[in-house]
Amino acid sequence: MSFPKEVFIKEVGPRDGLQNEKKLIPTEQKIAWIEKLVQTGLRYLEVTSFVHPKWIPQLADSEQVVKHLPSHPDVTYAALIPNRKGLERALDTPIHEFSVFMSASEGHNKRNINKTIDETYSVLEEVVKEGKATGRNIRGYVSTVFGCPYDGDVAVSQVVKVSERLLEMGVDELSLGDTIGVANPRQVQQVLYELTKYIPQEKIALHFHNTRGMALANVWAALEMGFTIFDSSLGGLGGCPYAKGASGNLATDDLNHMLESMGVETGIQTSQLMKAADFIQEAVGKSLPSHQMQIRNQMRKEEDNR
Ligand code: HMG
Ligand code: MG
Repeated sequence: MSFPKEVFIKEVGPRDGLQNEKKLIPTEQKIAWIEKLVQTGLRYLEVTSFVHPKWIPQLADSEQVVKHLPSHPDVTYAALIPNRKGLERALDTPIHEFSVFMSASEGHNKRNINKTIDETYSVLEEVVKEGKATGRNIRGYVSTVFGCPYDGDVAVSQVVKVSERLLEMGVDELSLGDTIGVANPRQVQQVLYELTKYIPQEKIALHFHNTRGMALANVWAALEMGFTIFDSSLGGLGGCPYAKGASGNLATDDLNHMLESMGVETGIQTSQLMKAADFIQEAVGKSLPSHQMQIRNQMRKEEDNR
């Protein structure tokens, strides 16, 4: 498998990035951030989720946010849909792609969506079927692929089982989540090697969290095997509130920096990306954890002191 010349970055910041933020961001600021993200050249934005507002208060304004999405011919807007109720809320919106989600481990699945893995299949099946009937693409997240905060190690056979069930339902793409950032590059290659015996490589995206600073190394491991679709969150915001110890996603700005500096195309304009990062940093009111933002903040401080 040859090393990719271009990579498709899927921005999940407005959903995965914000969902873990305690301070509620006003709807207008979320919309303004999404407008800035569109200007960066990013072509896939996961903008919110239609989960229970009590479970994720930050995204309780999903209906309002999606009403004001800037229309752009090349941008795909996606949102998380956990069940029929979420589907009903999302059907009459301009969201192009629905993302269903479940875990490879029972412990996280139960805590995150209040169901066993077996109970989840029929719920998601309905969402996939009805979502597809509207002509939409469906994405399927598999969480805790590389380890679970409650059950520990996760067998690859379990990841294969859940992934195959999602594909059988009609999911168009799988996103494999390292929900709590425990993966290492060797493990990434081993798991992907096993998985691709059963699942077509082009159907797989990778969704790394950077909890232990391994996300870029894990991207490299997947790039070496020819994988080309990566989820990330601008500035490294993010995490799942129902995964003990989960923290920031792989940062879009760090990922873009690594890829562009290696000559791998992302289609992103770095100056616009950093403006969008400045904007959300101001909105959340704390410095963002990505390396690009840390350098930027440091340089600003030094200039101010001059
Ligand atoms: P539940 O309490 O089991 O729901 O929650 P229920 O079906 O028993 O219904 C209870 C009540 O909630 C009912 O209302 C429903 O109508 C209502 P009542 O009749 O009592 O008035 N309800 C809803 N309301 C609004 N929107 C809905 C909805 N569903 C039911 N969609 C549920 C089950 C799935 C809803 C809940 O557990 C939930 O919302 N979980 C979401 C948690 C979440 O968002 N986690 C983070 C996203 S996943 C993630 O971050 C990982 C990922 O990034 C990949 C990775 O990193 O690995 C994707
Ligand atoms: Mg995530």
